[in-house]
Amino acid sequence: MQQTEAVKASKEWKKRSIVKDFKDSAIERISKEWMLITAGNKDDYNTMTASWGGIGYLWERSVAFIFVRPTRYTYDFMEKNVRFTLTFFDKSLKNRVHKICGSKSGRNIDKAKEAEISPIYFDNDTISFEEAKEIIICKKIYIGDFMPENFIDKSINNLYPAKDYHRIYIGEIEKFYQK
Ligand SMILES: Cc1cc2nc3c(=O)[nH]c(=O)nc-3n(C[C@H](O)[C@H](O)[C@H](O)COP(=O)(O)O)c2cc1C
Repeated sequence: MQQTEAVKASKEWKKRSIVKDFKDSAIERISKEWMLITAGNKDDYNTMTASWGGIGYLWERSVAFIFVRPTRYTYDFMEKNVRFTLTFFDKSLKNRVHKICGSKSGRNIDKAKEAEISPIYFDNDTISFEEAKEIIICKKIYIGDFMPENFIDKSINNLYPAKDYHRIYIGEIEKFYQK
């Protein structure tokens, strides 16, 4: 499904330091606030809700790591594009945004239109949403697929009845924007 075309990000977005300005526990932020993973360019992108992932330090750089099942439409965009964004919203928008973006597929609906959020770009391949409060821009530097034989805790298999094991994407954090 064609998604609403993105427009240039407003001047309200200020570049900040991911190390100094990303406040509170990343575990709590990601697992409780949730975030959107978005990949693509201004004409062709997709976004989805995620609550698994992290922010940390690896290979002498700040990184974010996220997990996308190959069954997601967003997976196709993660594969085709060099960059992805992680977008955080205020609590007041959580229901509106994630009810749609975490349950419906961009294959069938225009998520931005349904969730009433406005797609923006910073550079052509960095899509996010104007109503957000924070945006992390990442460049892919590593991918890997979970292998069930490596699950030391076998109960993890219960999370994969369809055997659609996530692909991990590690992204170098290039920019962090706040409003
Ligand atoms: C709270 C929440 C967290 C989610 N976290 C993830 C995740 O980390 N990885 C993933 O592959 N899917 C996750 N999902 C599922 C996708 O958001 C969902 O399947 C979405 O509809 C996929 O959209 P798409 O087909 O347009 O990519 C999550 C859903 C919810 C509601």
